[in-house]
Amino acid sequence: MSSDSSSKPEPSKRKNVGEAWEDFIEQQVYPQPGKKAKDDYRDYDHTDRESVSDFYKENHRHQTYEYAGQKREEFLSLDRKQMTIFEALDFLNTLVDDSDPDTELDQLQHLLQTAEAIRADGHERWFVLTGLLHDLGKVLCLFGEPQWAVVGDTFPVGCRFSDRIVYHEFFEENSDHHDLRYNTRLGIYDENGGLDNVTMSWGHDEYLYYVMKDYLPEPALYMIRYHSFYAWHREGEYDWLCNDRDREMLPWVKKFNPYDLYSKCPTLPNWQELRPYYADLVQEFLPTKVAF
Ligand SMILES: [Fe+2]
Ligand SMILES: [Fe+2]
Repeated sequence: MSSDSSSKPEPSKRKNVGEAWEDFIEQQVYPQPGKKAKDDYRDYDHTDRESVSDFYKENHRHQTYEYAGQKREEFLSLDRKQMTIFEALDFLNTLVDDSDPDTELDQLQHLLQTAEAIRADGHERWFVLTGLLHDLGKVLCLFGEPQWAVVGDTFPVGCRFSDRIVYHEFFEENSDHHDLRYNTRLGIYDENGGLDNVTMSWGHDEYLYYVMKDYLPEPALYMIRYHSFYAWHREGEYDWLCNDRDREMLPWVKKFNPYDLYSKCPTLPNWQELRPYYADLVQEFLPTKVAF
């Protein structure tokens, strides 16, 4: 394997690990329908592959049942900040990779492009709003959380890790993997007991679900809560934990996913022009200030 350091991009051109992860998911693991995934996703561009692999190593090692429980306790009281959605979008947009001046506005652009693609397909207003909001939970990074605890695939903790989760081998280093309480098919859960009773690995999805749960319709909440749960919505795993409600909602989660992954368009949406439309939309569903 080549270790030619001269082929590494300049620091200013290197992607942050969150971006590298998103490219990895989109291009290597779950490419656009009709396109072929790389035969081996470990064939990823060398530099990015290293950062994605390091990312998963950390994520899979630390995401235990106990860890997710601690984080839920720490964050789900939602007592950090009261923000309007526009303040939250601005706040999220301060999340840029210091080493890359070009990433400015990327967070907002991704949300806008997702929402605009949903709107262009004529979907309902709550669905468009879900596109705008779905990654707002990444404000966790601004509350000091490391990237591996904010982005990346999510999966149930408290039961065996599916071998369909990318970089499954890194779970070797997760203490739950060797814990008899947590390493069976059902672990601490009941067969078909429902995903709502399952603790997910900690990240922006679960967090934002709690921020939004009183305001949006159920399909929107499923999209927000499970959009990174690829082992479920792409790989068909974990049906044994699902109840009928989860199965009814799964098509919505699947419907959302292409907008999240493939909505990058060459002409960037103009936020200033679109702002009045979205202000209206936000006001229709959400209170002025939302607790984060
Ligand atoms: Fe996300
Ligand atoms: Fe996203």
